[in-house]
Amino acid sequence: MQQANIPLPYFDILLEQLSLGDAAVQQAFGRHVHWGYWPNWNQADGSIGDFASAAEILCQRVYKAAGVREGDILLDTGCGFGGTIASLNEQFQNLEMTGLNIDPRQLARAKEKVKPLANNKIAFVEGDACKMPFPDNSMDVVLAVECIFHFPSRAAFFQEARRVLRPGGRLGVCDFVPASIFRLFQKLLAKMDISMITSTYGRVDSYFTVSDYQKLAKETGFNVTSIEDITSNTLPTYPVVRQIFDHAGNSDAVKATAAVEMLAKLGLLRYVIFSFTV
Ligand SMILES: C[S@@+](CC[C@H](N)C(=O)[O-])C[C@H]1O[C@@H](n2cnc3c(N)ncnc32)[C@H](O)[C@@H]1O
Repeated sequence: MQQANIPLPYFDILLEQLSLGDAAVQQAFGRHVHWGYWPNWNQADGSIGDFASAAEILCQRVYKAAGVREGDILLDTGCGFGGTIASLNEQFQNLEMTGLNIDPRQLARAKEKVKPLANNKIAFVEGDACKMPFPDNSMDVVLAVECIFHFPSRAAFFQEARRVLRPGGRLGVCDFVPASIFRLFQKLLAKMDISMITSTYGRVDSYFTVSDYQKLAKETGFNVTSIEDITSNTLPTYPVVRQIFDHAGNSDAVKATAAVEMLAKLGLLRYVIFSFTV
């Protein structure tokens, strides 16, 4: 099997299970590889089908925050298996969409699964979201759905997004963001062994707060349009992800997910949707 250009152990697990025809992984993560959004978290029923519907809602909330409209030229960075582009393809007409991903294995699946509908155009391109292979002023919308924490630098990503966006362009991002109180615990957390988390989720940088985002937006020429904390709406994700990794026989991934879940339930790690305009 081809390798990712960066270590992404959870994608190694998912791709392995998908190649074995695992129906549960196919339903949970065959399209979207991100957390779910439940309007009322206490209405989640814990099933994989319910999770898949919630994951669909989450990507819609991000692209609605970015104000996608008919005729847009749109770039979805860190596009996974192309699930957000698949959703946009079903909801809109006359979109020109490009999915960018550093992992050719995911792009191969995206190309196989996502075919243009309704006069839309779709391309999937291999590359780094911090060195976008696109000209200046070439996009109306840039999205980063649950992937920015993997990128080499949020600052480089914002500079690139600013460069490729046209005047009036829009950026939608969702990310795991530490609560401001997190800083108080930072010394304690620095002592925690996070190798368990990185051995499942790869390189993650979740030390970027809401105020860090506001500052970065200002420095890179964006206005902040909206900031929505949806932490409680995402919490039912964790038991489902633990169940999937358990089913795949990976107890380290179950423990890593439980550790992130604990931080989210304590309110230390927030889940936030941001939108920005040029
Ligand atoms: C949690 S997945 C999210 C996938 C997709 N956005 C979704 O919501 O289904 C994170 C994604 O970021 C991609 N990624 C990580 N680093 C990247 C980089 N430097 N440039 C582009 N994509 C990257 C991974 O390959 C993976 O597809």
